[in-house]
Amino acid sequence: MKYDINNLTLDEKLSLLMGVGFWRTNSCNGKLKQIFMADGPLGLRMSDPEKSPNGTLMPGTVNLANTWDKEMAYLCGKTIADECVENDVDILLAPGVNIKRSSVNGRNFEYYSEDPYLAGTLACEFINGVQDKGVGTSIKHFCANNSEYDRFNVSSEVDDRTLHEIYLKAFNIALKAKPWTVMCSYNLVNGVYASENKPLLKGILRDEMGFDGVIISDWEATRNHPRAVKATLDLTMPQVQTIEDLKKAVETGYLTIDEIDFCVQNILNLIEKTENDKKKVEYTLEQRHANSVKIGKESIVLLKNEEQILPIKKGKVAVIGDVTRRVVSTGTGSANVNTLYKTRFLSDLLNEKKTEAEYFSCENCAIYEKTVYDAKNEVEAAYDADTVLMVVRNEVEGEAYNKTTIKLPLGVEESILNVSKYNKNVIVAVISGGAVDMSAWIDKVKGVIFLGFAGEGYNEALASIVSGEISPSGKLSETFPLCIEDTYCGLYRSNPYYDMYSEGVFVGYRYFDQYEKDVLFPFGYGLSYAKFEYSDLQLEKINETEYNVSYTITNTSDVDAKEISQVYVRDVFALVSRPPKELKNYSKDFIKAGESKKITLKLDRSAFEYYSNNSKDWFVENGKFEILVGSSSRDIRLVGKIDVNLPEETQVTQYHHRYDRMLLKRFDQ
Ligand code: GLC
Repeated sequence: MKYDINNLTLDEKLSLLMGVGFWRTNSCNGKLKQIFMADGPLGLRMSDPEKSPNGTLMPGTVNLANTWDKEMAYLCGKTIADECVENDVDILLAPGVNIKRSSVNGRNFEYYSEDPYLAGTLACEFINGVQDKGVGTSIKHFCANNSEYDRFNVSSEVDDRTLHEIYLKAFNIALKAKPWTVMCSYNLVNGVYASENKPLLKGILRDEMGFDGVIISDWEATRNHPRAVKATLDLTMPQVQTIEDLKKAVETGYLTIDEIDFCVQNILNLIEKTENDKKKVEYTLEQRHANSVKIGKESIVLLKNEEQILPIKKGKVAVIGDVTRRVVSTGTGSANVNTLYKTRFLSDLLNEKKTEAEYFSCENCAIYEKTVYDAKNEVEAAYDADTVLMVVRNEVEGEAYNKTTIKLPLGVEESILNVSKYNKNVIVAVISGGAVDMSAWIDKVKGVIFLGFAGEGYNEALASIVSGEISPSGKLSETFPLCIEDTYCGLYRSNPYYDMYSEGVFVGYRYFDQYEKDVLFPFGYGLSYAKFEYSDLQLEKINETEYNVSYTITNTSDVDAKEISQVYVRDVFALVSRPPKELKNYSKDFIKAGESKKITLKLDRSAFEYYSNNSKDWFVENGKFEILVGSSSRDIRLVGKIDVNLPEETQVTQYHHRYDRMLLKRFDQ
């Protein structure tokens, strides 16, 4: 160990337990290297005046999830880390893995998914991408921070099973990448602030999940510093207190020296990690931009393609939208990135593609604050064109507030309806950080593309898809409901103090499936320019709770493309209520036109277990399970059936055979 804890005085130890300024740790009178931290999930947000304020705006985490591609997650982490190395940043305050419980949560753009398996597995690769370059990460916000409304004061009321199966699960999966730090959240969890919640921070995160790094508070999340230290929150950020509170806590015996030293040692270990020889800049700014575009292309989701209006091959195309000049592909708050990149006109980019289409720009139409002149402009452009491509953006969203609707702004909806009156071949590309209620206009247009926040190169990515240079391959990582009223959260919390997670584990598609509700677009949905057939499902048993699942996908079209196949597991009959299906593995594969590919994925014990509130542990209940292979959560192509038959002593209760027989009769029909 380079840094010996015995070389520090008590005052120095106590000062190490909080930041210096907003972004650094204490040097303890020059004895230690200061750690420098910076946001965020979408790129480097330089908030330190000493450093250049610019970064490369990568696609939003919403887009990273829509790629369903671990290599893209790794590449994103690696690209941002490259910029961290260049700017001497030791720890990147990312990834954010909070589950998308509410469709209006302001920060959904910087989170992955409503599904913890997808979120955790992609975050794991993002962390590897960052830390393989010698830069640390801070997986956040631990935990159950699923709404921005009043986030400093709300208590998330969540039962143990729901916590483990949904809200802790992504963290648990991502801990495989050994993030150097975990950032605790602002909110209370079951009535105790996360920052001082010892059962949560020590009992679950450290003892149960095996985390051995540094727990950092979210900025100003620590409400009582001595209590936070006692809960093993190592580092309070930023510097908001003096060490007097801690000194008094030691004098009164509330805090022991051992408790202080536990946190100090964790921070010394972290400082050592930041001093490594992996830190090498390998990308130019142009290469980082190219990486952003590459991920952006993989993330775009084609939602509607009536009469195969896409890709556009010929004819006059009016490009309408006021968002095509400025980079608007992000949300506000700590995830914001100040990029210097100047996007080019979409019409110019499209005219450079090898198609016979001719694009003209009506791009200075202010879709929001439309003047009658603008409206005339829009309509005449539409009237003259064979096809209209509209690029529209949702209301501004971001940290510290929730959205007020999941519909597009009225002015935008009006534009779409207006244009579609004068042209029957309208394609709408939507820039938004999350689910959109399209009910007012989707039947009036032929094509819908979900751009999400596709990064600073969103126009280049969109041009590749629209021109058919590549086939769209993204799929939704969040359900798009028909309307916000159809969701279990709705728009507002039922009371100011508590967020009752009374839907339990039935979150996202788990909810819509359980209650057999229609949705606009289901979890895992996305169209391609190609067509894929699934066949030949094989289930190779390794042991009672481990299987190799293999199947063949054939590209029956004349277009090379990528397909995201998803493997869900259904516990046919459990003694607790379980979701109708749960994602337990997935694969994204490039399959050339006319060719087939055999895919083999593993299901381990975690694919079958649930968390028992009874035994306070993970548990696999004997009985029948279905293995469902689908192109989306509601487009299941292959079904296999297995029997789990573990020794009786592993079961928590005696099986009620009479129910089983009755149900199995139905099951086996
Ligand atoms: C913010 C965010 C957190 C961010 C931190 C530093 O309030 O909640 O995600 O990393 O403070 O900016």
